[in-house]
Amino acid sequence: MRLTLLGIIGGSGLDRLDGLEGLRRERVSTPYGEPSSALSFGRLGGTEVAFLARHGDGHSLAPHRINYRANIRALHDCGVRDVVAVATVGGIREGLAPGMLVVPDQIIDYTHGRESTFFDGVAQPLEHVDFTQPFCASMRAALLRAGAAAGERPCDGGVYGATQGPRLETAAEIRRMARDGADLVGMTGMPEAVLAREMGLCYAMLAVVVNAAAGTGDNLNGVAIGEIRAVSSAAMKRVVAMLGMLAQSHGR
Ligand code: HPA
Repeated sequence: MRLTLLGIIGGSGLDRLDGLEGLRRERVSTPYGEPSSALSFGRLGGTEVAFLARHGDGHSLAPHRINYRANIRALHDCGVRDVVAVATVGGIREGLAPGMLVVPDQIIDYTHGRESTFFDGVAQPLEHVDFTQPFCASMRAALLRAGAAAGERPCDGGVYGATQGPRLETAAEIRRMARDGADLVGMTGMPEAVLAREMGLCYAMLAVVVNAAAGTGDNLNGVAIGEIRAVSSAAMKRVVAMLGMLAQSHGR
């Protein structure tokens, strides 16, 4: 049995994790303030996990208002060392269609004005972390294995572009992101991923494609928000099955 706790950050469409055995909720505070929600602890696939709802319990926090530092610090302080972050995304690259699951391997950060480091020279001394490979290789591999075990075929690799939100992008912004090499677009991957790196956590993302990005595919003239919700709620059932497999293998 591993001693480290598996942390799961749930995004849009995954505000709670049903089926946690022995559920226990705990409010945690940190030097950076309150995390988005109380942490939920319980067993999933026989393994103890800690779950955090990134947007808050009632999905009320906009991406730029999330206290990412408090979220990551709270998970760390509860004993979490390995983290899987579930995030809905728009598909930019052709072939990344709604309903697909992706384990990205790179990030481009287009966000601004977010507290994006612990090492700001104020609370902690200035430090520069290596971020060449922004995701933890062993957690990425574990996610891909869990996908196969759950009968899924998550796409191995992809460049996640993090935008400011909460609005979706313009068609021209998506064209620029495509030229930059972004395959996926979401609003919360940064600074979450870099803070996890600074905190020494092994962090990877499970991205759930819920729409074609603005101006692409079926969404040439607009993105139907209602469809995003429908795709997301169907996909999250598969995600939860995958997380069960991940938790099971994490406990071994
Ligand atoms: N853009 C940004 N974030 C998203 C999208 C999108 O199209 N879909 C889901 N999250």
